[in-house]
Amino acid sequence: STLTPWVDPLPLLPQAKSTGLRPHPENPAIKIPYYRLAMREMLVKLHRDLPPTRVWGYANSFPGPTFDTRSGEALLVEWANELPGKHFLPIDHTLHGAEESKPEVRAVVHLHGGRTPAESDGYPESWFVPGKSATCFYPNHQEAAMLFYHDHTMGINRLNIYAGLQGLFIVRDAVEDALNLPSGKYEIPLLIFDRMLRTDGSLEYPTSGNPKSPWVPEVFGDAILVNGKLAPYLEVEARKYRFRLMNGANGRFFRFSFGDLYEFQQIGSDQGLLSAPIPLKHLVLAPGERGDVLFDFSPYAGKTLLLKSDSFELLQFRVAAAPVNNNAGLPQVLRPVTRIPESQAVKTRRLTLDENMDLVQQSMGMLLNNTPWHMPVTEKPVIHTTEIWELVNLTEDSHPIHIHLVRFQILDRRRFNVFEYQKSQTLKFFAAAVPPSPSDAGWKDIVRVDPGMVVRIIIPFEGYTGRYVWHCHLLEHEDNEMMRPFEVVAS
Ligand code: C2O
Ligand code: CU
Repeated sequence: STLTPWVDPLPLLPQAKSTGLRPHPENPAIKIPYYRLAMREMLVKLHRDLPPTRVWGYANSFPGPTFDTRSGEALLVEWANELPGKHFLPIDHTLHGAEESKPEVRAVVHLHGGRTPAESDGYPESWFVPGKSATCFYPNHQEAAMLFYHDHTMGINRLNIYAGLQGLFIVRDAVEDALNLPSGKYEIPLLIFDRMLRTDGSLEYPTSGNPKSPWVPEVFGDAILVNGKLAPYLEVEARKYRFRLMNGANGRFFRFSFGDLYEFQQIGSDQGLLSAPIPLKHLVLAPGERGDVLFDFSPYAGKTLLLKSDSFELLQFRVAAAPVNNNAGLPQVLRPVTRIPESQAVKTRRLTLDENMDLVQQSMGMLLNNTPWHMPVTEKPVIHTTEIWELVNLTEDSHPIHIHLVRFQILDRRRFNVFEYQKSQTLKFFAAAVPPSPSDAGWKDIVRVDPGMVVRIIIPFEGYTGRYVWHCHLLEHEDNEMMRPFEVVAS
């Protein structure tokens, strides 16, 4: 059955609220804000005409509440697992980390894009069960950007996030303040993900058909939720708005537009502001990627517009009839992004993205550098050095690769001969290297690596030493071995 679109107002996600001050872990004389967010099961209305849906949220919000923080202002968050003892989505016990011996419901939270000490980074094996909690320290020594937090539990991460365990985390700073971008009610974060819904409103997570190993390699739903609602509307004034887009899907890439003809300006990507605004009509975001855009409704007073992804209509804008005068101009310079010279790199690592037939399971397995999760750490960058990682995609999928702790720049993408590589491990190129598109030329924490491409990124390892992870952000891949530890070591 089809549901009537545009009957529910767009939910504006609530703000996370600190409940007091606690001593700074490195300097107890200083007190910093302390938050406690409990993960709980809840029932929510995804649409006016659907029965309530069982989901998991943080602090009684689905998606979780949004943190609004300032660069350099540290905070502590106690993540409390108050989930029920049973999972409501199909666990695959053949996946590493999700064995029968493990408790069914486990959680651990990662701040995606955060420059976070290793012990607070939400290592996938540091999960905790209902009744337990973990307190994480976020120093926030990084530039303004929209980060997000989400579950990262080994072997069931895709299910926990599908159930709803994710939320936004905004970092602001003085450079961004000085740009006078639309703010307050004119700045709207949009966390967007697809789901499969049954007619009774319940979430469906697809399975392979084999009850012993229900894992599927990809999930695509046709119900696309914006801030947790299906096809909502938003009343806007006829003026400029800032939309902070986040792809929170397990597997779907979005190609956002305001109707295919309308131009908008992209001002930021994963790790903050671009050097200058880019006029665009479409913006592709892979799972985990963020896009910061400005759209000017002033020419459309009294009209309706749509936020779309290809042919999906996601959100209706109802533009007020009265035109608005005070429409601040668009700054031509945002924040300079100094390109890192390749000569700065002390090391180049070649890392493959692989797909292998598992003969026992008769299913496809994906790996990073042909190495399963449990093998010893092979990538050990030295703190305060810069490396180039050459990601060689030998598979037939596009993989959004994410590295914890760091921000990086994309150097180039280059088509190569996969067959030849498999035979002789040598890179034979089909074409010249292509520099990143303007959207991809800022600071990133996820890079899309298309099939048959080598993508080179340059990474300054700053922040902290310790054990982190890098992985594909297609959550089904990540849960099935497309994740590896790395370790930042002291110099
Ligand atoms: Cu969104 Cu390991 O991260
Ligand atoms: Cu992948």
